[in-house]
Amino acid sequence: MSMRPKQTVYVGMSADLVHPGHMRVLRHAATLGEVVVGLLTDAAIASYKRLPYLSFEQRREVIESIKGVARVVPQATLDYTENLRNIKPDYVVHGDDWKDGPQARTRRKVIEVLQEWGGELVEVAYTQGISSTQLNQERKTIGTTPDIRVRTLRRLIQAKPILRVLQVHDGLTGLIVENARIEAGGVPREFDAMWSSSLVDSTSRGKPDIEAVDITSRLTSINEIFEVTTKPLIFDADTGGKQEHFAFTVKSLERLGVSAAIIEDKIGLKKNSLLGSDGTQLQAEVQDVCSKIRVGKHAQITEGFMLIARVESLILGAGMEDALGRAQAYTEAGADGIMIHSCAKDPDEILEFCSRWRDVGNPVPLVVVPSTYSQVYEDQLANAGVKVVIYANHLLRAAYPAMMEVANSILMNGRAHDCEERCISIDEVLSLVPGTR
Ligand code: SPV
Ligand code: MG
Repeated sequence: MSMRPKQTVYVGMSADLVHPGHMRVLRHAATLGEVVVGLLTDAAIASYKRLPYLSFEQRREVIESIKGVARVVPQATLDYTENLRNIKPDYVVHGDDWKDGPQARTRRKVIEVLQEWGGELVEVAYTQGISSTQLNQERKTIGTTPDIRVRTLRRLIQAKPILRVLQVHDGLTGLIVENARIEAGGVPREFDAMWSSSLVDSTSRGKPDIEAVDITSRLTSINEIFEVTTKPLIFDADTGGKQEHFAFTVKSLERLGVSAAIIEDKIGLKKNSLLGSDGTQLQAEVQDVCSKIRVGKHAQITEGFMLIARVESLILGAGMEDALGRAQAYTEAGADGIMIHSCAKDPDEILEFCSRWRDVGNPVPLVVVPSTYSQVYEDQLANAGVKVVIYANHLLRAAYPAMMEVANSILMNGRAHDCEERCISIDEVLSLVPGTR
């Protein structure tokens, strides 16, 4: 009696929050033959939804241990084509919940490619009442730990073409960055991280942006923001202060769960970069900045924390060569990233820096803050090699004129009725924060 060779069955999955729906798919796959799981990499998953909670290696360990799974291979893109052509499975098994939404195109392609050798797509009925999206919502209500939060920024930088970061200064703005979400072309779009801005932290306290708000006060705000959010945060550490103090700042930030600190290469009374160069702002000596970077890197305890050096040469009129030279020196001193700043009205000098930085062949990520050249698109920046774009002050700038108009309206009219339409209703306020009702 001739034995039919064992059929090969391919199952692509993220397997982040593994639930009975996944088990049902795998059990069905195992009845058809030998199961190869194409485990989506962080980058593949981040291309159509959030970064997975578990790392690739952790997910691999879970899936390899499941009965009926013969082998696990990485699937580096949402598109199955490359793995399917290599493995030429007889079947692909998937839940039937991918007919609409961001995966619909992937599904069509799978059917098309399988036809090349007569393979077949088998779809298993979606398990009602449970999904990873739902589990992720639950996870958000549980919160996160400092250690997990710190590491997330590095993982996002590795997994995504470009990260979007928006300024926060309290719990409510934190919730906006945590929850704001739109769909663009069927793919959900969110902010990846929060920015704790010295300008906004100072202005919202009615103080000038001259390092006058002490670090304890800023850390208290971050603690409040962290109580109600799970996304990573990048901290604007100004000049970092005295080297000896900076070592303590790094430890405090890390302990709280901050993912990165950015220090700028200025000395003396630091003023905001968007004021440009009035001759009173001085740039620090390269070796002093390098030495502060070394102190910071030495002080950090976890591997996940990042210290990013901010180059002010273009702001202070020191020129492109100076900016590139400093970026190189700071990287050699151990900086995990470079923020190149500009207060020009167009992105030309930033794009020139990016292209020259790429020529140097330097791998550390580039961070930009398009406040004065806000016409630039994220795609343009990503194509130029930028990894992180920070929208540094926009929530405060949006709130202030709205609040001022309402204050003036009350003064003008001698009552509050006339500004009601500019305000959200009391009912909406009561619904804004979960648990208020
Ligand atoms: C901040 O947000 O405080 C910054 C960026 O440092 S900038 O205001 O452009 O200097
Ligand atoms: Mg600042």
